[in-house]
Amino acid sequence: MDWVHDRKVLPLPGANFGRLIDVDDAETFVVAVERTPDVLPALLCEAGGLLVLKGMGAISGQPELLVRLSHPFGTEVEDYALTSNRLNLLHPASTRIIRISNRPPMNFAPPEPPDPPRTVDGHLPVRFPHRRGWHTDQSFRRPPPDISLFYAHEPAPRDQGQTLYADGTGAWERLDDDLAAIAEDLVGIHVSPFKGHGEDDVREGREPQALDERDGPQPQPVVRRHPVSGRKALYLCEREQMDWIHGPFAGMEPGVDGEAARLLYRLMRHFTQPALTYAHHWDQGDLVIYDNRCTIHSATWFDAAKYNRDMWRTTVWGNPGPFYDGESRSWEGAAARG
Ligand SMILES: [Fe+2]
Repeated sequence: MDWVHDRKVLPLPGANFGRLIDVDDAETFVVAVERTPDVLPALLCEAGGLLVLKGMGAISGQPELLVRLSHPFGTEVEDYALTSNRLNLLHPASTRIIRISNRPPMNFAPPEPPDPPRTVDGHLPVRFPHRRGWHTDQSFRRPPPDISLFYAHEPAPRDQGQTLYADGTGAWERLDDDLAAIAEDLVGIHVSPFKGHGEDDVREGREPQALDERDGPQPQPVVRRHPVSGRKALYLCEREQMDWIHGPFAGMEPGVDGEAARLLYRLMRHFTQPALTYAHHWDQGDLVIYDNRCTIHSATWFDAAKYNRDMWRTTVWGNPGPFYDGESRSWEGAAARG
């Protein structure tokens, strides 16, 4: 395929994982991917679960291109009308696309800036706990989605609203033996954000909200073996997407100041060390494809009073690995009830 062999696939500057793909024409690219649908998913796997595609701006006028490009990554491009209870986020052209935007009707507020806003050497803070909000998409469902495709329809200015990524495979491979032995059998308890189970909610004494099947809490292994690469990776969230009432880890002292919380802080500090991370500064028309089974990510602040940001996302499901074999979908009860 021309786009693979014609020097269009490059190392990703500023990262020890991932690849950069320079796309000339998005529509032609999607047709080429559809012709040999195994190639782009194989490249994602080789790249450690992160691909940055430049030049995909035609998606803005043809949102179906994003759905078409999602299909090769799994058996099902998820329908958010069934899996999410935030129906205000659905894209008018397709319920398989959600819009992460501060524009109405989404009204999705950006995270606050870290404190202090820069590291001592003047860089964008990346490492937990200076940087908060690290997560993998929709880990509060079982099985969770495998792949996300995240498109910049209208990004914030380049120096704001970046997305940070961390390499879960590298994080597992660099763990000290003693911590690896502890992590190996650990089970995280994941929950939908903004439901009163997050770390800040518990610290501030907010009343937890009722949860349905789409919200969790769901147990997930902290170490997952990737079903395609066979490599192990850390699988972990923090802040809003772990259950800090019952967790964050099963079978350990729960709560925000418990033994499990201290272990999560230790693991997340390791996971988000600069050598394992990449900061994407968005241009209009960029598309980032990431594998939720072996990477985590975090949003950063932008000035929502001054700028609009409108990002479109699909998630793809189908190969979570043998750990989830034979399970029914945790969200189907809620979907059936409507
Ligand atoms: Fe996300």
